[in-house]
Amino acid sequence: MTRRTWPLRAWTLVALAGVLLLSACGEGRQSVLNPSGRDALLLYDLARVMFVGALVLWLLVGGLFVYVTRINPREMSRRLAEGLIVGGGVLFPVVLLGGLLVYSLPLMQAPREADEGLRVHITAEQWWWRVEYELPDGGRVTSANELRLPVGARTGLVLNAHRVIHAFWVPALGGKADMIPGRETYLSLLPEAAGTYRGQCAEFCGASHALMAFETVAMAPADFEAWLAAEAQDAAAPQGEDATRGAQVFAREGCGGCHTVRGTQAVGQVGPDLTHVGSRLSLGAGILGVEAPDFASWIAHTETLKPEVAMPSYDHLPPDDLTALAAYLGGLE
Ligand code: CUA
Repeated sequence: MTRRTWPLRAWTLVALAGVLLLSACGEGRQSVLNPSGRDALLLYDLARVMFVGALVLWLLVGGLFVYVTRINPREMSRRLAEGLIVGGGVLFPVVLLGGLLVYSLPLMQAPREADEGLRVHITAEQWWWRVEYELPDGGRVTSANELRLPVGARTGLVLNAHRVIHAFWVPALGGKADMIPGRETYLSLLPEAAGTYRGQCAEFCGASHALMAFETVAMAPADFEAWLAAEAQDAAAPQGEDATRGAQVFAREGCGGCHTVRGTQAVGQVGPDLTHVGSRLSLGAGILGVEAPDFASWIAHTETLKPEVAMPSYDHLPPDDLTALAAYLGGLE
């Protein structure tokens, strides 16, 4: 009895696990199965054609195998045997694989083409993303851990890394590109629908590799221009008693040695630019939100939240100072 029921249960479990896995894939914000960029759509089509091609090849070879071992295991004529070997073993794979190669080769360059549109410089740090938008006059607007792109236009990304190799990947928008210290690599993205898509470092880069994510926000062109103009502004002055005291704590603790808050004395280049940190979607490269408690939690526990991160945990700060600091940073919108 058990011999008959267990395999069925096991298969049911396997099938359920498969359904769960596939439904997780389709969830969307970080999925190649939910393409929303020109390049991701190309890759999606390529993957489907390749899959169908592989399936046809597999079915034919498997079918032949079943035919000669089960259906017709008798010795066959030399002519038929040679026909099967030459036709099924040489001609068919050459035609099918050749066809797939001819179809796929022209797609290889397309996602990496240079362009005349907006250029964004992205540097992979351990473990966060330095993001700099190149302005027409040559100046740059610096941000971090978030990429904003205009919908319907191709944006060129100039990629670099600081200490070790990382890889840039927003699955829903396009392919991957390695980020290599001392060498620029390029990728370009063309979002076709407004939305927020999650990106993730795709090359093991150390203890907090898995904690190196970012959001990519594709916006209507006019919204993007307005956002970039606001992002180029200096930081807002602290509002209210807590935030004002927080700015003093920020200065006293030497935060400006590593971080920049444009329009203040803080001009550090080691860590993320904090000029508009309160208006971003995440803190710590995709780990936390940007409410005041998130800031307090991050500042006091960096080393546990992100192992081996360069920023020490400021757990010596009195709770009042921490609250004030969090109010100041959360207000930098
Ligand atoms: Cu950066 Cu993995």
